[in-house]
Amino acid sequence: MAQGDAELEARLAEQDEFEPSEEFVAQANVSDPDIYEEFEENWPDCWERAAEMLDWDEAYDEVLDDSNPPFYEWFTGGELNACYNCVDRHVENGDKNRVAIKWEGEHGETRTYTYQDLYREVNEFAAALRAQGVEEDDVVTLYMPMIPELPVAMLACARIGAPHNVVFAGFSADALATRMNAADSRFLVTCDGYYRRGDPLDHLDKANEGLDGVDHGVDATVVVDRLGDDGFGHDLKGNQHDWDDLLDEQSGERVAPVERDAEDMLFLMYTSGTTGQPKGVKHTTGGYLSYATWTSHAVLDIEREDTYWCSADIGWITGHSYIVYGPLALGSTTVMYEGTPDFPNRDRMWELVEKYAVDVFYTAPTAIRAFMKWGSKFPESRDLSSLRLLGTVGEPINPRAWKWYYEHIGNEECPVVDTWWQTETGGMMVTTLPGVKNMKPGSAGPPLPGIDAQIVDTDGDEVEPGRAGYLTVNKPWPGMLRTLYDNDERYVSEYWAEYSDTDSDDPDDWVYFPEDGAKVDDDGYVTVLGRVDDVLNVSGHRLGTMEIESAIVGVEGVAEAAVVGGDHEVKGEAVYAYVITEDGYEEGPDLRARIIEGVEDAIGPIARPEQVVFTPELPKTRSGKIMRRLLEDVANGAELGDTSTLRNPEVVEEIAAKVRTQA
Ligand code: WT7
Repeated sequence: MAQGDAELEARLAEQDEFEPSEEFVAQANVSDPDIYEEFEENWPDCWERAAEMLDWDEAYDEVLDDSNPPFYEWFTGGELNACYNCVDRHVENGDKNRVAIKWEGEHGETRTYTYQDLYREVNEFAAALRAQGVEEDDVVTLYMPMIPELPVAMLACARIGAPHNVVFAGFSADALATRMNAADSRFLVTCDGYYRRGDPLDHLDKANEGLDGVDHGVDATVVVDRLGDDGFGHDLKGNQHDWDDLLDEQSGERVAPVERDAEDMLFLMYTSGTTGQPKGVKHTTGGYLSYATWTSHAVLDIEREDTYWCSADIGWITGHSYIVYGPLALGSTTVMYEGTPDFPNRDRMWELVEKYAVDVFYTAPTAIRAFMKWGSKFPESRDLSSLRLLGTVGEPINPRAWKWYYEHIGNEECPVVDTWWQTETGGMMVTTLPGVKNMKPGSAGPPLPGIDAQIVDTDGDEVEPGRAGYLTVNKPWPGMLRTLYDNDERYVSEYWAEYSDTDSDDPDDWVYFPEDGAKVDDDGYVTVLGRVDDVLNVSGHRLGTMEIESAIVGVEGVAEAAVVGGDHEVKGEAVYAYVITEDGYEEGPDLRARIIEGVEDAIGPIARPEQVVFTPELPKTRSGKIMRRLLEDVANGAELGDTSTLRNPEVVEEIAAKVRTQA
């Protein structure tokens, strides 16, 4: 490292607050500090500011209907179409030749969609869906990787008022079947395969296996031919159709965007919870789209002229809100990349930033930690001077990674927004407004204007600054989930029961609990400490320990299993599985391999255990509850916590010794 670099590192290491540059502030979409007060004073009408960013077919009567908490309704009486707002209006407003999507395949092939191109293909696919029998309110499952047909299909669904249900392509066949079953979905759009680190992956095989597990009739499946000659030669079955054939049949077709009620469902997104059954988070047309658009504008500072890149996968909420809906509603250019950040080289991300002159870049701490590990020579070999703002999401970012990002990617010129939010919140909730607030590495920042969040103790009383407590949200917001699909009861019990008076119909008695621990400093900056439920955060992806455990106990030879998260340098958390074998079965490499396979089959490779530890017993309390905290200590090689309440205290040291020898 050069002398100057060392000095710079030393200076940054000591600095704990960073100011946005005057140049940034001067051009920021939001730069008036009064916005916090303004939103507070005018709440809930302040949210009109978000709704005004959209075109409505029918004006709403009321901003918020809170007469039946926690079943809040936003912009009631209003009608709009999400696809119209993301596509048609830009075509009509003279932006038809502006680029909507810049796509880059792993091999470097590229596709560019102008808003006009998007308009044409979305219309044709909307017509194709209709021709396959999709009607308004039918749930269409999209099991697709990062190819342009995915946003096209999402927008086509939105156009005809058919909620989409995107299932991350890395999820297994079982996971697809579970989600199609839970959502009563009779339509599937998928593809033959895609590329990962140079090799074609057979995706249709997995999709077909998933379809075999669907417990109701499936009316039609549409298959995109992504691999061409590299494909696996699957024949399409009776009700399976080739994407291109369907588009050809509908060539030049136009479908009028369906006027949707503001509260009509735009999409479902399944996410992991404490129990084995994933939760079908329901988002609506008016509130969600307003919120995604507003936060893209206010936090990501996206302007219509920008080229913006979020490196998430559209299979997660981040991609929904901040690759597809927010950036397209704003009429900007959104970049999509199919592959991994280290293929063919470790400078792939920076190559793309340089090539497309990306203005705003949004990624995850796990990626930043990997970039850091690979070294700054990769970003240094590229021209990143087009960047204006950087963002992160998905898990807490440690100050060292934050500073590396700020220095080596942002050249100390770009504000970094650390955005806390969830699948359920629809959009960002806690983060700095980059043109208004200073940044503090390691802290996401204050709640956004209009968001009323507090850190409380187990009784719901606010805790003092500096003390750890639980993050709560005390007022509803437009992007919030409306319920869990077909399960109002679970919606209340999962998110509201903890801190609300559930018998009350006064909205002031209702508090949303995101199940994160947090603390706040004297300036109101929130540091999120992580999940307080049995949910792991592996590389920014949410995984339920119960889901993984039930996959493991489904493996022949396994009697019992406990899964916890262990600290991991790049992934944040890694899956540690403690397994008791059944009598007559031998622990060892064979069973370990079958356990890993079992988890990959039930969920997907992202849930693959980092370590499988065979143990004769699990540490349990006298009442028989597994003491996960101790298993976490063991995974982290930490000093073991109090074992005195255990029925079998000796087992913990035994397991710890095993982990040490296996590691
Ligand atoms: C959980 C939500 C939001 C889209 C990606 C993940 C954690 C998210 C941050 C952050 C600390 C964060 C929380 C949250 N999380 N962003 N900036 N700082 N923690 O969505 O799968 O719904 O997971 O991710 O624990 O509850 P998700």
